[in-house]
Amino acid sequence: MIHLPLHTERLLLRDFEEADWEAVYCYASDPEVTRFMVWGPNTEEDTREYIQHKLAAQQADPRTSFSLAVVLKAEDVLIGSCALTVSRPEKHAAYIGYCLNRDYWGQGYATEAVQAIIGLGFLQLHLHRIFATCDPHNVASLRVLEKLGMRREGRLLEDRWQEGRWRDSYLYAILEQE
Ligand SMILES: CC(C)(COP(=O)(O)OP(=O)(O)OC[C@H]1O[C@@H](n2cnc3c(N)ncnc32)[C@H](O)[C@@H]1OP(=O)(O)O)[C@@H](O)C(=O)NCCC(=O)NCCS
Repeated sequence: MIHLPLHTERLLLRDFEEADWEAVYCYASDPEVTRFMVWGPNTEEDTREYIQHKLAAQQADPRTSFSLAVVLKAEDVLIGSCALTVSRPEKHAAYIGYCLNRDYWGQGYATEAVQAIIGLGFLQLHLHRIFATCDPHNVASLRVLEKLGMRREGRLLEDRWQEGRWRDSYLYAILEQE
């Protein structure tokens, strides 16, 4: 039994709802936000499809995808998303991803949200290993992973195709016992 939403000091991490698409579109259509992502910038239609996809994933049994809306409690405003996907259930392994509306960068919100989703992975889903990949130029994101004690395990050469060329990624991970 998974307990959602997740609460942190300033944030609520909850399942997406249909009406969230507009707030998601706000950041998902921003080229600065999607600069290091394999998706985007997204259109309104892409965003509505994304939300439908997330609503369907909420119903899966067993559930392997936890894409959560990050809501700033004080303003009751959706400021981003944070996701954990169980990629190899037999190995108790999952990867995480996150992005925030640019208006809310630089205030520690991503670190707070990612910490909560790592907690979901280890404490509720009993995972053994959680990993993330990140573009070596994405300094803010590298800093988030390092602040949370994730270990850089290596550099994946030409790991993804983006904007007409192959790009490297750093691989970060954290284990249950860490
Ligand atoms: C990555 C992202 C989620 C970070 O969100 P955030 O709420 O600003 O992150 P935090 O405030 O928790 O931490 C950011 C850290 O990076 C640092 N940082 C940000 N920009 C920096 C820069 N250009 N150079 C050096 N450090 C930088 C901040 O100072 C902070 O570190 P500190 O707490 O030691 O001062 C946000 O920038 C974002 O949504 N980016 C676009 C989507 C994305 O790239 N997602 C990750 C894909 S792997």
